[in-house]
Amino acid sequence: MTTTAPRPVNPLVLFEAALGGAPVMAVHLTHAAPVDVAAWTAERDSVDEAIVGLCEGPVLDVGCGPGRFAAALAARGVPALGIDVSRDAVRRARARGAVALRRAVEGPVPGEGRWGTVLLADGNIGIGGDPRSLLKRCRELARPGGLLLVEADPDPEMDVSGPLVLHAEDGRRSRPLPWARAGSLVLRAIADELGLVVAEEWDLAGRVMLSLRS
Ligand SMILES: C[S@@+](CC[C@H](N)C(=O)[O-])C[C@H]1O[C@@H](n2cnc3c(N)ncnc32)[C@H](O)[C@@H]1O
Repeated sequence: MTTTAPRPVNPLVLFEAALGGAPVMAVHLTHAAPVDVAAWTAERDSVDEAIVGLCEGPVLDVGCGPGRFAAALAARGVPALGIDVSRDAVRRARARGAVALRRAVEGPVPGEGRWGTVLLADGNIGIGGDPRSLLKRCRELARPGGLLLVEADPDPEMDVSGPLVLHAEDGRRSRPLPWARAGSLVLRAIADELGLVVAEEWDLAGRVMLSLRS
């Protein structure tokens, strides 16, 4: 008797299972780590607060997940919109007090060219697997002179791109989605190429943030 492997599922199915509490691993090339929902849903820590403090409104939180940053900004009275491709993430972000819409960053987004800050927090520079294209898109979304606030990989030389596959404990696998990791040196080089100025770089307890200005 031959057995066939189950068909891979849409990555959003397993991502949303993780949001609901199921243990899910993200396997990206040689790197495997649990999908860290706890970090996105925990009470904000001092590093999150510092990141919020760097933002200039109005803020577009790209890949907002359950709304950690968009909700914190709203609580401070800073106009902010979270966008995410996951319906469940958007629902959770709204429940947390954020304004959030189900949108892909690559598609139409409200207020294009008018955002004071475009935020790519917590590895979201990986979205789409091509940091150069993503930064170019974010530059279009920001107002002239606006800020792109980007969390870099802790390894400044990190520069990998390739398929990311989600693995659920029950054996389900997702279809691969393109993802990237990029360190600050790599992001600085891309910024230079795109005519973005690196305004500042912060190491916040091991989390590296870069601010780029158009
Ligand atoms: C690392 S999680 C977000 C964590 C959140 N930024 C935080 O720090 O709490 C990545 C998010 O990006 C979203 N995402 C993936 N591709 C996207 C795209 N093309 N456009 C918008 N959001 C996307 C995923 O659904 C997921 O919620």
